[in-house]
Amino acid sequence: MDKVQDVAVLVGSLRRDSINRKVAHALTELAPAGLKLSIIEIGQLPLYNQDGDGKPPAEWTAFRERIRAADAVLFVTPEYNRSMPGALKNAIDVGSRPYGKSAWSGKPGAVVSASLGGIGGFGANHHLRQSLVFLNVPVMAQPEAYLGGADKLFDANGKLINEGTRKFLHGFMQACEKWIAANL
Ligand code: FNR
Repeated sequence: MDKVQDVAVLVGSLRRDSINRKVAHALTELAPAGLKLSIIEIGQLPLYNQDGDGKPPAEWTAFRERIRAADAVLFVTPEYNRSMPGALKNAIDVGSRPYGKSAWSGKPGAVVSASLGGIGGFGANHHLRQSLVFLNVPVMAQPEAYLGGADKLFDANGKLINEGTRKFLHGFMQACEKWIAANL
């Protein structure tokens, strides 16, 4: 049997009842058997400061090592003010340093954005892609995933109740598996 690919999932929201975290859980359930998705927490990371490169906080080191160990990365994020949340940008910056030792480089990736608004976090999704291009993360182009009105997709227990979205996310994860295999 082929190796199961380790997919590090970064959720852009730190909120306890985050819709994006619910989306990440739904993606974990819908992923094909060849992918193992694990949420890697980012809320504990101290703000990136270049002064720390010589003697990095333990949280930065653990995060960088965990990303390095992953086969692929999947971002699930809300939109904050037409961009990605600061916590997610901080995690990207932490993983990208020290210079020349980025944990991201060459790892296949994919992006899902979910928001209350009708445009499904398009601004966050594409700002994130801009950084990922620079960081040499080959990001899956299609299918794009912008989940609008996302608060209505889940029940009170966090279960995905929209059948169309379930089918779409299932197809998205199958495409991810192919993308990862082609870009390892
Ligand atoms: C938002 N929200 C938001 N929504 C959107 O569609 N476009 C936006 O630019 C913003 N901007 C924004 C800024 C800030 C600071 C907050 C707190 C919120 C609303 C956002 O979609 C909503 O709060 C989601 O529920 C956030 O995702 P989680 O936390 O549920 O995963």
